[in-house]
Amino acid sequence: MLRVEGINVYYGAIHAARQVSMEVSEGEIVTLIGANGAGKSTILRTISGLLRSDTGSIRFMDENIGTMAPHKIVERGLAQVPEGRRIFLSMTVEENLEMGAYTQNSLGIPDDLERIYALFPRLKERRGQIAGTLSGGEQQMLAMGRGLMSRPKLLMLDEPSMGLAPILVEQIFDTIIEMNKEGATILLVEQNAQMALSIAGRAYVLDTGHIAMQGAAHDLADNEDVKKAYLGGRQDE
Ligand SMILES: Nc1ncnc2c1ncn2[C@@H]1O[C@H](COP(=O)(O)OP(=O)(O)O)[C@@H](O)[C@H]1O
Ligand SMILES: [Mg+2]
Repeated sequence: MLRVEGINVYYGAIHAARQVSMEVSEGEIVTLIGANGAGKSTILRTISGLLRSDTGSIRFMDENIGTMAPHKIVERGLAQVPEGRRIFLSMTVEENLEMGAYTQNSLGIPDDLERIYALFPRLKERRGQIAGTLSGGEQQMLAMGRGLMSRPKLLMLDEPSMGLAPILVEQIFDTIIEMNKEGATILLVEQNAQMALSIAGRAYVLDTGHIAMQGAAHDLADNEDVKKAYLGGRQDE
């Protein structure tokens, strides 16, 4: 479904993505894990067309999207839920969801809203509430719901667990599994490696811009190097 081959991304002199290759097949949950600053968001933003690589290629559904405008990429069925949610704080829950449907024919919006509300009953209860007054977990659900409004084939989530209490993190991860069961292929970026590896089928480990390891998520969860680097620090939390 998605094939990234040999991309390099720079911010001035900073080489943030180094010869990165990865792929996602239809129906999978794939996770990209790595420490803060490893380059995870850079890679998602490049796949979304917000940043560019001068090398390699990015193909989605057998089409080259490496030079395509971001809104065209969303139209093709590839959506991103950005880090830090980026919802419209002064708009209502429902208005935020409607904003996510900008690539869709407006006739389909009522059905799409019902589909999202079935997945997130909390959002339905709060459909008229101003988004800025939602809790952190509810704001994350709203950001994910908004991402689903474009009917993506592949949904990329950038650190959905960031800043959330453990109980909410579990809810968010349960919802990701649910979205996947309902047909969305998922590329999940996380610093919370343990949780991400527990729901993903395959994983890539990013270390200062390059893919250091890849494989089945359960193998990486048992891998001593991964444990030391990404799973150890969580014990005292
Ligand atoms: N807009 C930017 N300008 C300059 N450097 C940036 C910018 N965004 C990210 N970086 C740098 O690129 C590297 C990768 O960042 P990022 O992709 O955000 O990592 P992650 O999402 O894994 O935390 C970091 O060293 C970061 O400081
Ligand atoms: Mg990031």
